[in-house]
Amino acid sequence: MTVNVSADMVMSLDGYIAGTDHSAANPAGQGAERIGGWIHAQSSWRERMGQAGGEADRDSDLMREWFEATGAVVMGRLMFDSGEEHWGDNPPFRAPVFVLTHRPRPTLVKEGGTSFTFVTDGIHNALDQAKAVSGGRNVDIAGGAGTFQQYLKAGLVDELQVHVIPVLLGAGLRLFDSLQTGPHDLEPIRVVDTPGATHVKYRVLKRK
Ligand SMILES: NC(=O)c1ccc[n+]([C@@H]2O[C@H](COP(=O)([O-])OP(=O)(O)OC[C@H]3O[C@@H](n4cnc5c(N)ncnc54)[C@H](OP(=O)(O)O)[C@@H]3O)[C@@H](O)[C@H]2O)c1
Repeated sequence: MTVNVSADMVMSLDGYIAGTDHSAANPAGQGAERIGGWIHAQSSWRERMGQAGGEADRDSDLMREWFEATGAVVMGRLMFDSGEEHWGDNPPFRAPVFVLTHRPRPTLVKEGGTSFTFVTDGIHNALDQAKAVSGGRNVDIAGGAGTFQQYLKAGLVDELQVHVIPVLLGAGLRLFDSLQTGPHDLEPIRVVDTPGATHVKYRVLKRK
């Protein structure tokens, strides 16, 4: 069974997915409130977080589509450390999550179908484990930037959707920094424009 490997990233127009000085204690970093604000305003996100309200519009539908398409998740340890407390006992993933790390930790089983398995032997192993339990749905490379870049460079990402927030942050953590392996050719497969974001979905073309 072929499993699609996808990445959805919420990014400022100038390419940042977090602000400056991001850390586990300050996950979004300084100056990236517009990115976090867009995510936390969506009713689909709030529903997954057990919260009422939020915007029930096209942006929210696209986030729901992303959730529903995902059968397993891979993320970096910094994203996990940043989110662990905030996500609580019933994290929004509702799927097995594989966390790349150099620091082993026993698997955490949470409510709602989310588990966190800590993988210390590399990106291929984490992806293979995620594919094996994805039930044929997408494996989502959730981030952060370092994790996404490793999978892109290894030619393992099939689709990338960037949710471009109309703001210029000027500084922070860039999604596409230090790739050093370009060009990576992308084929646009869908564009959805809303006042909140421009959502561009690409197929990542395999290198010959
Ligand atoms: N806007 C968005 O869509 C979005 C999405 C996701 C994340 N983010 C943001 O991105 C930031 C985190 O990104 P980041 O690039 O700094 O970090 P990251 O990719 O989340 O995590 C990096 C860490 O993961 C572990 N790791 C990564 N690759 C590994 C490998 N091959 N083998 C073993 N361990 C590995 C290492 O941790 P250890 O050595 O400590 O174990 C490494 O320091 C946060 O601010 C988060 O809020 C934004």
